[in-house]
Amino acid sequence: MTDTIEHIEQEFQTRLTTVSGEEDLRKLKADFIGKKGHVSLMMKNLKSLSPEEKKQAGQALNTLKNRIESVLQEKLGRLEQQAAEARASRVDVTLPGRKPPEGHLHPITQVMEEISGIFTRMGFAVEEGPEIESDFYNFEALNIPQDHPARDMQDTFYIGGKVLRTHTSPVQIHVMERQQPPLRIIAPGKVYRCDSDVSHTPMFHQIEGLMVDRGVRFSDLKGVIERFLKEVFGENVAVRFRPSFFPFTSPSAEVDIQCVMCTGSGCRTCSQTGWLEILGCGMVDPAVFGFVNYDPEEWTGFAFGLGIERIAMLKYGINDIRLYFENDLRFLKQF
Ligand code: DAH
Repeated sequence: MTDTIEHIEQEFQTRLTTVSGEEDLRKLKADFIGKKGHVSLMMKNLKSLSPEEKKQAGQALNTLKNRIESVLQEKLGRLEQQAAEARASRVDVTLPGRKPPEGHLHPITQVMEEISGIFTRMGFAVEEGPEIESDFYNFEALNIPQDHPARDMQDTFYIGGKVLRTHTSPVQIHVMERQQPPLRIIAPGKVYRCDSDVSHTPMFHQIEGLMVDRGVRFSDLKGVIERFLKEVFGENVAVRFRPSFFPFTSPSAEVDIQCVMCTGSGCRTCSQTGWLEILGCGMVDPAVFGFVNYDPEEWTGFAFGLGIERIAMLKYGINDIRLYFENDLRFLKQF
């Protein structure tokens, strides 16, 4: 009996050296300590032995079974570790990396840059001015009298003795104060009005334009504006100038383009008129030159102002201006 037990153990050790995977290990376990394995069969044979022999052999078999079990357990651990190491070394370091998500410019910034590009190519320089203005720059020097409706508390945000600029026109004054003509500038930037609905937000963007030189005429204004609108909306867009009024220009005009939604046949966007108002413009009023000490006998000029959001809405077919500032990535990602 003792010989047989030793023999089984030897055979187990031999078989163990040939084990190369978990499959082999399971087979080995079944063959030796499974229900029909060598050790279990030996246990069944104990019946035929004397009580003394039975006790001895039983203990020996139990010890053997435990030893085999712990050896198998240990071997299984090693195999699992080897498998994990093999998996790890299979990482392909030559694979291209994963690109982190990349942002882009806000649609309003994109349109602002496009418009600025059109004017800089026509020789206009880009200027900036403060968003917090004094009454003088935002109104007074632009020939907007004390009782003008634009000064109404409903439109203007007042902070202390100052205002948030309601348009980019005050930049005209800053530029003319520090530069002598001839000059050709645009001034893009944020403006503020106390207003909010589908076509108004309390903050929006404008671009102001100003050209002053000897002999600048209304036809120069028309040429610059028409070229600009064709660059933005296409060569075939129809453009019209309507007489209008602004305190800082005379004569003044509002400029319409043929409706981009219905190409002129009439729709909701153009209130069935077939035309869309795009900007305001005119010849600089001599009174404005007076505030900056330009001689109106020597110099003439034109000015214009346009809203970026409105142009961006028409360009992209967007019907609610507030979408631009909700910063919903599902909206912004489309540009
Ligand atoms: N400042 C005007 C506004 O915000 C727009 C404007 C109209 C600007 C005519 C001009 C101009 O320079 O000549 O409504």
